[in-house]
Amino acid sequence: MNTLILYSSTDGHTIKICQFLQKVFEQQGDATTLISVKHASGIDLQDFDRVIIGASIRYGKHSPLIVEFINDNAAMLDTLPNAFFSVNLVARKTEKRTPDTNPYLKILLKQISWRPMELAVFAGKLDYPRYKFRDRLMIRLIMWMTGGPTDPDAVVEFTDWKQVEDFGRLVSQMKQSPTAST
Ligand SMILES: Cc1cc2nc3c(=O)[nH]c(=O)nc-3n(C[C@H](O)[C@H](O)[C@H](O)COP(=O)(O)O)c2cc1C
Repeated sequence: MNTLILYSSTDGHTIKICQFLQKVFEQQGDATTLISVKHASGIDLQDFDRVIIGASIRYGKHSPLIVEFINDNAAMLDTLPNAFFSVNLVARKTEKRTPDTNPYLKILLKQISWRPMELAVFAGKLDYPRYKFRDRLMIRLIMWMTGGPTDPDAVVEFTDWKQVEDFGRLVSQMKQSPTAST
C-alpha cells in the first residue's frame, strides 16, 4: 500500500502527528508520503492506494486550502480508502474529542461533500512562548474562559498518542477493494 498523508499545519504539531502515523503505517510495511496542502497542486491521487488528510484549527477554522483541496478532489477521494483528522485545543476535553462532539469537525462536514471513511479528532499542543504577542493574548483569554492553562510560559502537549496510534492501526487495515480501480 502506498499511503498519502496530506496535512495543514501552522506550528508543526499536525506534522508531528502525521510523522507518528507514518511510522505506524511503515511498521505495517506501507510506503507513506507526507505532503503539505501548500504543495498539493501537482498531486495525482491515483498514484496512491490510501489517503489521510489532517488539519489543525486556527481561530475556529481549518485551513481554506484544505477545504478547497477536499472539494476539488471529492470524487477521487471517494474511490480510495480514506480518512480525515482534525487537531485542536477544544479537543483537550475528552467530551469534545469525537466526530460527533467536536464543533470544528461538525462545521467542516457541512462545508464538504466528501464523507471520510474514518474520522478522528486529536487534542493539539499549547505553546505560548512560540506565539506572537496578539495570538498569545487571544489564546490565553480563550484558555481562561474555558478553564485551560494561562501561564504565559506554558507548553502543553494534550495529544493522546495512544488514540493516534489506534487510529493509525485502524486506517492501516483499510484496503482498496479489488474492483475499486477497475
Ligand atoms: C493563533 C492560534 C489560534 C488557534 N485557534 C484555535 C481555536 O479556535 N480552537 C482550538 O480548539 N484551537 C485553536 N488553536 C490551537 C491549535 O489548533 C493547536 O495548537 C494545534 O496543535 C496546532 O496545530 P499545528 O501546529 O499543526 O498548526 C489555535 C492556535 C493558535 C496558535
